[in-house]
Amino acid sequence: LIERALAGRLTIPDFSAFTAEVAALFEHSLERRDGTLANYIPQLARVDPEHFAVAICTADGQMFSIGDANLDFSVQSCAKPLIYSLALEEHGAELVHRYIGREPSGRGFNELSLDPDGKPHNPMINSGAIMACALLQRGQDIADRFEFVLDSFRRLAGGRKVGFSNAVYLSERRSADRNFALGYLMREHKAFPDNTQLIETLEFYLQCCSVEANAEVMAVIAATLANAGVCPTTGLRQLEPATVQNCLSLMSSCGMYDFSGEFAFTVGLPAKSGVSGAIIGVVPNVLGFCCWSPRLDEHGNSVRGLDFCRRLVEAYNFHAF
Ligand code: DON
Repeated sequence: LIERALAGRLTIPDFSAFTAEVAALFEHSLERRDGTLANYIPQLARVDPEHFAVAICTADGQMFSIGDANLDFSVQSCAKPLIYSLALEEHGAELVHRYIGREPSGRGFNELSLDPDGKPHNPMINSGAIMACALLQRGQDIADRFEFVLDSFRRLAGGRKVGFSNAVYLSERRSADRNFALGYLMREHKAFPDNTQLIETLEFYLQCCSVEANAEVMAVIAATLANAGVCPTTGLRQLEPATVQNCLSLMSSCGMYDFSGEFAFTVGLPAKSGVSGAIIGVVPNVLGFCCWSPRLDEHGNSVRGLDFCRRLVEAYNFHAF
């Protein structure tokens, strides 16, 4: 980063002007007080709805954050693109997509439906993420598999702290009827690889949703995706470029629940949101960002997070097209 700065080759040369503008956008989005907390898990319903954080990491490692950017939250579905990426790294796209489709479902993220081939529609909804969990580190002990996921998230975040909330996990586990139903539906359709342990796989998926991190950590992970798989803060390659390309493509078409088409049209960036109110977004070759604010709109996307995304592309023309 210092070398690039000295050579005048920074991705965002006037970073202080940029961050001043981001701070102004943050203040505007902070005014939004509409929306409701996810309440299907008691632990998520208890979070202070006023929290709001925005963190940004550029593709060459300049960082800025504002608001509650050091508070941990449950990453929830923001884990899905990462689990999918790890499955791609392990098996390659051809094998992974024998088990998971790549079309938007046009349905809710936990809807009981499969595509016409009896596969989950895509890896950004629950059924597809459960399938990606079934593919990850097969043959390994379940404890090793979870440790592998946590370590991988940490590596994508340049060694920053990634934790786990057992309270959220236990709460998820008790409220997981729909995910279990999805698991049985897929098993009925013989959608899983041979010898998949269904209960263990579902628990593994719920544990991945219960991973905790703060907005800064998630912004570095998003920036690793923006930087074609090389973590900008360590310079280490964590994902192959083809993995990132596939992951960003599906984040673009399927990452924002049943609002993905509208988001692709208006904001035009690969992004993924989770029911905790987190959104990770990627401006390829420029930056990754994370917004977190718990109040959700009718689609399940963070109201302030979405508002911030809209303002960001309005201010900087980051829309992919
Ligand atoms: O599977 C569940 O019920 C949640 N843990 C899903 C989390 C989430 O953010 C939904 N997203 N697609």
